[in-house]
Amino acid sequence: MSEESLSHDHHTFPADPAFAAQANGTAEMYAAAEADPEGFWAAQARERITWAKDFETTLDWSGAPFAKWFIGGELNAAYNCVDRHVENGNGDRVAIHFEGEPGDTRTVTYADLHREVCKAANALESLGLGKGDTVAIYLPMIPEAVVAMLACARIGAPHSVVFGGFSAEALNTRINDAQCKLVITADGGYRRGNPSALKPAVDAALDHAQTTVEKVVVIRRTGQDVAWNDSRDVWWDDVVAPAAETHEAVAHDSEHPLFILYTSGTTGKPKGIFHTTGGYLTQAAYTNAIVHDVHPETDLYWCTADIGWVTGHSYIVYGPLANGATQLLYEGTPDTPHQGRWWELIQKYGVTILYTAPTAVRTFMKWGHDIPEKFDLSSLRVLGSVGEPINPEAWLWYRKYIGGDRCPIVDTWWQTETGAIMISPLPGVTTLEPGSAQKPIPGVNAQILDDEGKPFTEAERVGYLVLTKPWPSMLRGIWGDPERYRQTYWSRFGPEYYFAGDGAKYDKDGNIWLLGRVDDVMNVSGHRMSTAEIESALVSHPRVAEAAVVGASDEMTGQAIVAFVILRMDHDDEAEHLDGDALVKELRNHVAKEIGPIAKPRTIMVVSELPKTRSGKIMRRLLKDVAEGREIGDVTTLADSSVMNLIKDGLGAGGDEG
Ligand code: WT7
Repeated sequence: MSEESLSHDHHTFPADPAFAAQANGTAEMYAAAEADPEGFWAAQARERITWAKDFETTLDWSGAPFAKWFIGGELNAAYNCVDRHVENGNGDRVAIHFEGEPGDTRTVTYADLHREVCKAANALESLGLGKGDTVAIYLPMIPEAVVAMLACARIGAPHSVVFGGFSAEALNTRINDAQCKLVITADGGYRRGNPSALKPAVDAALDHAQTTVEKVVVIRRTGQDVAWNDSRDVWWDDVVAPAAETHEAVAHDSEHPLFILYTSGTTGKPKGIFHTTGGYLTQAAYTNAIVHDVHPETDLYWCTADIGWVTGHSYIVYGPLANGATQLLYEGTPDTPHQGRWWELIQKYGVTILYTAPTAVRTFMKWGHDIPEKFDLSSLRVLGSVGEPINPEAWLWYRKYIGGDRCPIVDTWWQTETGAIMISPLPGVTTLEPGSAQKPIPGVNAQILDDEGKPFTEAERVGYLVLTKPWPSMLRGIWGDPERYRQTYWSRFGPEYYFAGDGAKYDKDGNIWLLGRVDDVMNVSGHRMSTAEIESALVSHPRVAEAAVVGASDEMTGQAIVAFVILRMDHDDEAEHLDGDALVKELRNHVAKEIGPIAKPRTIMVVSELPKTRSGKIMRRLLKDVAEGREIGDVTTLADSSVMNLIKDGLGAGGDEG
């Protein structure tokens, strides 16, 4: 990595009393939650959320694993994120400081946000959208993305945000699965100094025989030319600008679906994880308050995630806005126009809380600490990490060079499915252990199980992380597939345990260390990728007969995608002439087209055989050994034990690309 020689001596960081004195989280919360978990959550729900109608029952778990929280309660998520702050006299408070990649800026107060959300809600209704209709949102990181999500929430239309880096194919699958009636997109966004188009992907995604989509609303961001379908497309400005500035926020049932968000699983088909209103909003607001320690009157909060991922949903939109926080929204990448851009922004806005991913921290380490050292980062007081385990070395660098040796770091473990943070230290309370997410937050219960499903607490023994009690922001299911929900999460260790898919261990102090996925899911730069999905993208190419994909450990991205492909002998197509590097390039681009550039394999190796068991299952473990350049492990269960020699001998046909 870099030239840093941060001490590897084991040291922990006790809470600073001055920080503790003002912290939202307290040690007492653990005891209160343990004594009466439902009472604890009910109190959080009533303290942090404004209910149009109070709930009668906190939890109904009688239909487990299908949970209902805050039953009988009614609320409007947009009202909670916007209107009530204006009603409380905080309309002039900045909700969003927007910084576009080209350097354009906008300041959006809560009063502005209220007006924009009302107008957008009226506009959507004027287009025929109503409660229960699903909406796809495919946007860059601009304030309208937040407005669009809240406008949907306001009228009870569940949104399905699709990350702007996904391809037309991926967008098409997601739109069809959720049967979206409307798409909100933009002409394009800015990426590394250039306008990059979005609308053409929507056009391609809808260019299929049947679609449920009736209208496409297009936000003008880059001003680039777009193809237009008069009967379907409308400019956001043409419908939102003339719309009325007031809109009544009708309350929805606590269990009304708020959003769907697709995530990769162990099969080729992404899962539509869906969340409902009351429980999700409660835990998003609660965790943003006690884990990020947001003080809305004084903090300047910045979560660097994209709204296309769950982190953006919970910690850009719903959590911080429900709490009335002021935040920075940044459109671009960390290295445009220069590698100090983030630090420049922290200095410019006086950012106090920074929530980012380990892959970013490792990238900054590689670029060198002299870059952040050129900026004044003294406003920072809390640092967060999310998406993958943060290695102790990156943790210590983050603390020293970004946090000025004073900021607590919260390493937050959670998932799209959990909706909000589950395992994390509390700043001001927990003695910090670099590299560990440490303990479930108050109200959450986790255990580690062995292969037989027995809980254990011995230190350094590796097992499976499970959650043992329902929590308010838990997924309510997989959209349209209740059986898959039960199978995926509640069957591996029986119906008592939510199986997260992560390996974990305790250390001698009882801290939980997350050890990565135990299923065929990879974690690349904190993004979840399915081996099966990339394999099916590869075999959809005419030259590929068979493909196996593994996640190989990578210094920068955590894991990197490595693909092994067997070519077809009988092909007869225009790609026929390609070989070696040209073919590898073609295959990588093909994956980008099928899924998105983030799914491009780092390495593609052309092989003549794949290692399989007698029952035909690909032994990814052995391929991982090859991909990580290790001695190959036990091959005794292979149907043909010579295959690994063939693979090793034949390598060199493929190529690496950054
Ligand atoms: C998977 C969930 C949570 C929002 C971003 C990713 C891994 C996440 C941590 C962490 C170790 C982590 C897990 C988890 N993960 N945070 N702090 N330490 N691993 O959401 O795409 O749903 O992925 O990310 O493997 O299962 P996601």
